[in-house]
Amino acid sequence: MRLIAKDINKSFMQGENPLEVLKNLSFEIEGGTNVASIIGKSGSGKSTLLSVLSGIMSPDKGELVFGDRAKSSFSSDQEFENFRKNNLGIIFQQFHLIESLNALENVLLPLKILKKDDALKTANKWMDQVGLSERKKHLPYQLSGGEQQRVAIARTMAMNLNIIFADEPTGNLDEETGGQLIDDLFKLVKNENKLLILVTHDKDLASRANKRFSLEQGQLKVLQ
Ligand SMILES: Nc1ncnc2c1ncn2[C@@H]1O[C@H](COP(=O)(O)OP(=O)(O)OP(=O)(O)O)[C@@H](O)[C@H]1O
Ligand SMILES: [Mg+2]
Repeated sequence: MRLIAKDINKSFMQGENPLEVLKNLSFEIEGGTNVASIIGKSGSGKSTLLSVLSGIMSPDKGELVFGDRAKSSFSSDQEFENFRKNNLGIIFQQFHLIESLNALENVLLPLKILKKDDALKTANKWMDQVGLSERKKHLPYQLSGGEQQRVAIARTMAMNLNIIFADEPTGNLDEETGGQLIDDLFKLVKNENKLLILVTHDKDLASRANKRFSLEQGQLKVLQ
């Protein structure tokens, strides 16, 4: 699915003064791209940008187009919310697993909420795909950081979303575990023909994307 952002602005009020984080930011990722990366300094607005692009935070100004649908073309917030839940997802740096549910149940819950067919089968399949067949009944605290990250990835991939945003997905992992996880994630999005938009400080990781951007002074620059 292609993704277009046009003239996006986002500020936060800091006391009296607005802190402008995104300033007339525009970019386009064509359909057929599997992995795009965004690098930028700490505080440059990467997480803010992912929140805006994934529809969980509204920009102050600007337009987003997902595939052929402009965000402004949805007739209500509820209609966009339905679209968002079925098409856009974020893999957060802090996983956000539910502590009282086991690994499999964490993957299953959103599938059940959205009344997806074959929810249990799908959840099992994705636990296997991320290499956690032997960890399905573990509670989050019984899993290592890398395993928790894999559950978070399985949970997002199981939803069969068109665009997946990942905020520093390897930020908490050692180099080898992180590298393996990224190899797997890239393979999964390629096999399923999805778009993964990856935010990272890691230049080597960013350089492996098909399309590369840098967030500077509130705007995205295309990197060669
Ligand atoms: N809800 C908020 N209210 C006020 N200011 C905010 C809010 N969210 C973010 N900011 C500010 O906006 C700027 C960008 O924050 P953001 O989290 O997007 O940066 P980042 O590039 O993701 O940084 P990091 O690499 O450290 O995760 C920061 O200066 C931050 O303090
Ligand atoms: Mg961030």
